[in-house]
Amino acid sequence: MEQRTGHISPADLARQRDYTEQIAAVLRERDVPPLAFVDTYGCQQNEADSEHLRGMLREMGYGFTDEEAEADLILINTCAIREHAEHRVLGNVGALVHTKRAKPSQIICLCGCMMQQQQVAQKIRSSFHHVDMVFGTHALWRFPELLWRVMSRRTRVFELTDEPGSIAEGLPVARMDRVKAWVSVMYGCNNFCSYCIVPYVRGRERSREPEQILREVRELVESGYKDITLLGQNVNSYGRGLDRPIDFSDLLREIDRIPGKYRIRFMTSHPKDASPRLFETMAACSHVAPHIHLPFQSGNDRVLRAMNRGYTRAGYLALVEAARANIPDLVLTSDVIVGFPGETTPEFEDTLSLIEEVRFDALFTFIYSPRPGTVAARLPDPMTRAEKQVNFDRLVAVQNDISAEKHRAYLGKTVEVLVDGLSTDPRNNLNARTPGGRLVHLSGPASLVGTFIPVRITGAATWALTGELAAE
Ligand code: 5AD
Ligand code: SF4
Repeated sequence: MEQRTGHISPADLARQRDYTEQIAAVLRERDVPPLAFVDTYGCQQNEADSEHLRGMLREMGYGFTDEEAEADLILINTCAIREHAEHRVLGNVGALVHTKRAKPSQIICLCGCMMQQQQVAQKIRSSFHHVDMVFGTHALWRFPELLWRVMSRRTRVFELTDEPGSIAEGLPVARMDRVKAWVSVMYGCNNFCSYCIVPYVRGRERSREPEQILREVRELVESGYKDITLLGQNVNSYGRGLDRPIDFSDLLREIDRIPGKYRIRFMTSHPKDASPRLFETMAACSHVAPHIHLPFQSGNDRVLRAMNRGYTRAGYLALVEAARANIPDLVLTSDVIVGFPGETTPEFEDTLSLIEEVRFDALFTFIYSPRPGTVAARLPDPMTRAEKQVNFDRLVAVQNDISAEKHRAYLGKTVEVLVDGLSTDPRNNLNARTPGGRLVHLSGPASLVGTFIPVRITGAATWALTGELAAE
């Protein structure tokens, strides 16, 4: 039976605010305000978590710096999705030995998905003595208490309890952007795709109450945010286990009623739970962007079964057809894994043919990376890395041609873009997004950031478009 996972009680959250206040009182004694360096690896959920950690740090009195060397506190929010991400983190944490030597009072904290794995935490404990604190995803809301322990007792703190996961509402937040914002609608994952570490490090699926989500989105819109992404590992199963019967389509409809000029996006959708009803809802809701990120992972039925994905190639293709039938100008993006254990080259070619059939606007492509503890990590994996790389390169070449062709179709068209930030390119100083989320480079006054404007598309490349301001 599905169990409703607990919310952290208001009393427990208040206790964390007391710790925050105790830390703030100590830090106020200092001549110069302390600085924190926060580094985030991985997906948008990690970005969103880091914004809460930054919010807690700000309430403690920390300012922020981009320089590790001058930081009084370093906080690294880690990602475990592939081995490469873990190696990068360990390399960078190793290098912090030098900053700590130069500044022995520096406090170094590691958190996030990598740290939720016991064997990683053990390795940090035994081999990275300069690290003061390690906490996993489930302990995020207790960061003030853990930091207070490090500060007051001058001991190393390792907080790694494994649990199904809970929801902490009302944590402070210091957002990184003024135009785009993340809103988590649910946490965790129950799907146990055989290659994936997420269900082990993020706990069971649990949805936030719709009222909390609506309040957060309303506040964001009222304070000027224009591009709001609803986050969850599998947003299509939103609402399971809540008292009030509600699903993701219902939630989108309720959010869509919030007045104002803004766009709503969401990710990620799992094909096994996406439905024509979702596509009808997207089409009916004027604020919902015509974009869906629908990871297919493989185009071969045997591999899909071995991945425990819960749908077939034909099922996926039918979904795409339904989505396109409902949503004109749909931008469709996806994730794919090459070299799953036991995947043969003919099976890989089914993935290639699916890509050619569907013609995604963009694809996030990954070579399989074994994750200790997952089912797939125990499967025989006879194909060499070099062979996998050949298949991967074939796939990327096919997709790059498709992406470029998709982008060429925009040439000469005028589209309403949201200018969402400044770029470092002096010729095209602005970045903008089409309704479907494609990146557009253009030049214009910085005051356009945060506004919707018509732009004529004049250039198209594989990864981005270029455009110029169109007369209104
Ligand atoms: N190896 C390679 N890619 C992976 N992904 C998840 N786990 C692995 C793994 N072990 C990819 C999937 C997922 C995306 C976020 O990362 O394609 O959709
Ligand atoms: Fe991982 Fe599958 Fe859950 Fe996505 S749906 S987070 S790929 S287990």
